[in-house]
Amino acid sequence: MYLIETEDNVGFLTASYIKNRIETFVSTKSKPYFVLALPTGGTSVDLYRNLVKFHQEGLSFDKVVTFNLDEYVGLPENHPESYHSFMAKNFFDHIKIQKEQINILNGNAADLYKECANYEEKIKNYGGIDLLIGGIGQNGHIAFNEPESAFDSSTRVVNLTSNTIAANARFFNNDISLVPTRALTVGLGTIMNAKEVIIMATGPKKAQALYHAFEDKQSTAWPVTVLQKHPRTFIIADKAAAAEISKTTKQNYGLCSFIN
Ligand code: F6R
Repeated sequence: MYLIETEDNVGFLTASYIKNRIETFVSTKSKPYFVLALPTGGTSVDLYRNLVKFHQEGLSFDKVVTFNLDEYVGLPENHPESYHSFMAKNFFDHIKIQKEQINILNGNAADLYKECANYEEKIKNYGGIDLLIGGIGQNGHIAFNEPESAFDSSTRVVNLTSNTIAANARFFNNDISLVPTRALTVGLGTIMNAKEVIIMATGPKKAQALYHAFEDKQSTAWPVTVLQKHPRTFIIADKAAAAEISKTTKQNYGLCSFIN
């Protein structure tokens, strides 16, 4: 796991890396599709803004399939705060991509367990995730893998913690009672199987989670710590999010740019 600390261009750096990976993939054509896993949430808005800009400048998604990390259970797909709506509004409505290339968990499936098993299977059939982009919760969650999630968990139904429900209330008129309490999420095992992982972290509210990510021992209390053993994880953080990480740790784990 590596730390890339940057002023305020977390979204731009992440989008640039995705662009580079897609373009390299297209030039080598080792398999039919580049498999890209994508998050939602406030931090990712700037990432999608930059990716849409790159698309307008010529970046093609023709050879990319996407898998979103998670979706609420029981929220209608067309609800403005569903992750289906978020992705359409911030990304998919602005790029040329076939519906069949987009995968988002269906939180209204009649059989949620089957939905999760099929999702996991579909990822495998595409040859696994090439690049997974995530955000991080204040409690250290990655996707909706809340504290105490098993490190080898796969895609499944989860209960959201009160911390996450409170943090997400800002998207539901600050009314906690409107925030769904369950979600479908890829597992920590699914994330660990991705060839590369980028976690974006911005703002002071993420500082404690990043402290645990880099300074603490691996523990299910802080799900992000699972990534300590992932060989190609880059955590891209702004100064505020990286504020609690010691100078020594920054020297040990810090990079000024991505490793190629
Ligand atoms: C969303 C997701 C979550 C968020 C995290 C950070 O798909 O997987 O793990 O990335 O909660 O959310 P923001 O960016 O809103 O702080």
